[in-house]
Amino acid sequence: MLTGIGDIAGTSFITLYCHALETLSDNPILVDPKSVEITTELNKTLSLSDDPLDRILVSGTLDKRLVVHIALRAKKYDDYAQDFLHRFPDGVIVNIGCGLDSRFLRIDNGHVVFYDLDLPEIIAIKKTFFNETERYHLIASSVLDFNWMATVLQHKGPFLFMAEGVFMYLDGKDVRSLVLKIQEKFRGSKLVCEVVNSIWLKFPLKKILEFKLQREMHMGKDATFRSGIRDSREMEQWHSGIQFLDEWSYFDSEEEKLGLLKVLKHIKFIRKTQWTVHYLLN
Ligand SMILES: C[S@@+](CC[C@H](N)C(=O)[O-])C[C@H]1O[C@@H](n2cnc3c(N)ncnc32)[C@H](O)[C@@H]1O
Repeated sequence: MLTGIGDIAGTSFITLYCHALETLSDNPILVDPKSVEITTELNKTLSLSDDPLDRILVSGTLDKRLVVHIALRAKKYDDYAQDFLHRFPDGVIVNIGCGLDSRFLRIDNGHVVFYDLDLPEIIAIKKTFFNETERYHLIASSVLDFNWMATVLQHKGPFLFMAEGVFMYLDGKDVRSLVLKIQEKFRGSKLVCEVVNSIWLKFPLKKILEFKLQREMHMGKDATFRSGIRDSREMEQWHSGIQFLDEWSYFDSEEEKLGLLKVLKHIKFIRKTQWTVHYLLN
């Protein structure tokens, strides 16, 4: 991995390369030309590395199932953003833990105000590929340092917060205080976030998860899952203003590329391993 990039920040390279591989595949689920541009440039540096993950990224040999899952997820989050913009064309979207993703380019309707927020080391790379404009902004900060909220509060909203592949890397108490702070500061906003089933955070399932993340996906030791919930409605218990709207799992998709995995949607335990929840924060 590039110098100065921590294990958790490094996970954004995996999703970026998934987007690029899917974009270049037949009948792509996601069309993301910017990911192809960025990975082509990053390959020049990563190809000099001995790191096993870097070798997989550069050689284009990421697990095909992972590529399909990540592409389906990105497409679904694009759909959530576009649905929001159909209702509120000049709404404000905050992409928490944006990584090197280019959602703004994929969903820009000419009016949206879009904030990409990630750790400083990721935003430093992002700045070399994206130009900020009056409607597209980069915030280099941990999402847990709530000062970023003052910048976003300069707008009147409405607001959509997205956290795609992020909350599971944070401690549970931090996710809870973040959601409650957004709810307090941005009344009436929507939150779309990916969650992990908390049963995977305890022995013995945690061991299986760590094996998958570290041995199969070659992620660094710190890039492990730290938080989760048992059910989409669990967050409603954190505050009476939090209202569950809908949920989505990869397996809900009719996508051909899921192949036989589609049958797994009938097994609740699998369908709800890692899924996305949509909330109203009042
Ligand atoms: C798996 S990547 C997902 C990136 C992007 N959302 C996507 O789907 O392509 C997780 C991202 O969360 C970011 N992240 C983790 N902890 C964070 C924090 N405390 N504050 C801001 N970003 C964070 C990481 O830097 C990384 O870019």
